[in-house]
Amino acid sequence: MRRPEQTASRIDHDPNWWRNEVVYQVYIRSFADADGDGVGDLDGIRSRLGYLELLGVGALWITPFYRSPMADHGYDVADPRDVDPLFGDLEAFDRLVAEAHALGIRVIIDVVPNHTSTQHEWFRAAIMGGPGSPARERYLFRDGRGPDGSLPPNNWPSIFGGPAWTRVPDGQWYLHLFAPEQADLNWTNPEVWADFDRTLRFWLDRAVDGFRIDVAHGMAKPAGLPDFDFGEPPPPGSLPDADPRFDHDAVHDVHRMVRKVLDEYPGRIACGETWVKDNESFAKYVRPDELHQAFNFRLAAAPFDAASVQEAIEHSLRAVASVGAPPTWALSNHDVPRQVTRYGGHAVGERRARAMALVELALPGAVFLYNGEELGLPEAILPPEARQDPMWTRSGHTVSRDGCRVPVPWQGDAPPYGFSPAGTAITWLPMPPGWARYTVEAQLEDPRSMLSLYRSALELRRTHPAFGGTELEWYGAPAGCFAFRRKGAGLICALNTSGDPVPLPPGELLLASCPLEDGALPTDGAAWLVAGG
Ligand code: NOJ
Repeated sequence: MRRPEQTASRIDHDPNWWRNEVVYQVYIRSFADADGDGVGDLDGIRSRLGYLELLGVGALWITPFYRSPMADHGYDVADPRDVDPLFGDLEAFDRLVAEAHALGIRVIIDVVPNHTSTQHEWFRAAIMGGPGSPARERYLFRDGRGPDGSLPPNNWPSIFGGPAWTRVPDGQWYLHLFAPEQADLNWTNPEVWADFDRTLRFWLDRAVDGFRIDVAHGMAKPAGLPDFDFGEPPPPGSLPDADPRFDHDAVHDVHRMVRKVLDEYPGRIACGETWVKDNESFAKYVRPDELHQAFNFRLAAAPFDAASVQEAIEHSLRAVASVGAPPTWALSNHDVPRQVTRYGGHAVGERRARAMALVELALPGAVFLYNGEELGLPEAILPPEARQDPMWTRSGHTVSRDGCRVPVPWQGDAPPYGFSPAGTAITWLPMPPGWARYTVEAQLEDPRSMLSLYRSALELRRTHPAFGGTELEWYGAPAGCFAFRRKGAGLICALNTSGDPVPLPPGELLLASCPLEDGALPTDGAAWLVAGG
């Protein structure tokens, strides 16, 4: 095998690559396990790069692989500048980036600036240092309320359920908007800024192409950490639009800092995880001196209904129009239930997921695919004792994200379906029996499979001139349907969520999510056309 340093990069120098890219999210624990411990790893990803090339994606986003006690499966980072041995080491990371680049695939990594693990050396120092120590100033420690300080400093609940404060042995409390093992950093402390700057440069110098920024709307806390009227307690696991703890102005200073660093590295980008209430707030994150792009979750939140999907698309386009940033689209990720299940499950959910894949991939902007969606994986039903998401315990066993995190099936008839080397008995989440039909092997040569649909759609999106332009125009369409056209370039996308087949707009058919019925688009179908000459 060629050594990484001898492998020539095929990454082009287009500074705007990210504006229309299709990015494939690798949830590292669940993509491919090279060392046989039942958990995915960096060498596993590298061993499957050929598949990603065949699929036709232009970039990867890899979820956190840093040193971590894994209380939130890596989003609790103990050392942001090293690889956890569970996933490999820095050499494995370098090999992966070099080989991805040799195939022309870019690599985006996930950074977690809002909080650290309580196993981070800073947090340990904060515990040792005691109240009032400089080490405590890197986090949000406060005295408690009540005569003996035994009540939390304010009334904030954690996003994962339970209180957002935990008391330490000397009596003070620290803030954690997520799990108790994820202590929120104090972003008014210059050391926190300096350390994040160091982390960004560390990975940029190792040739990453960009960052996905976790909780990008969360670093600036409201002054004084006041009590809030949260109204009805938010259902565990949901991040309500108007959560007053997020989206404070000072967070934009952090993103300006990120952008300044990135501007020193041409072609590198940042995409924020931003849950904010309105278009005006959203647009602020993608101003020219802040992040390049931000996730917009409206499409993933829309039910399978043409009016709702159209509204989500128009909303997302409006959100970025004022600042000239490109929109981003995702139907799923590691935090939300799989779309096949959301759209009704079984055959109906699959038909709808196929249709929505064509809708999404017809849109201008960047598309983020989540590993396994191209195989049509449904949400896996797991026994309670197998569930591992911290949200599961903290929500009183009502919410868990485990069902969308089950390892990807690659080949064969039985677990681990090639996810781990043959003979590996246990994967970190059990893989359901009956998943043989979803494997890459079973789908690759079948022209009717979900995988074949994604491959055809991605190839057309990459190569066909009808996918140019940045604007849409909408056609009049029967109730329960829509059709839009990419202005100037010509691609037409039609969706039918009504109960009857509908005629297609005039044009030459490029691809359909299901066979047409006498030239009409069936219920739960979508089609791509180009206007005839
Ligand atoms: C968002 C991530 O996507 C999620 O998986 C994680 O639990 C939280 N941020 C906390 O880091």
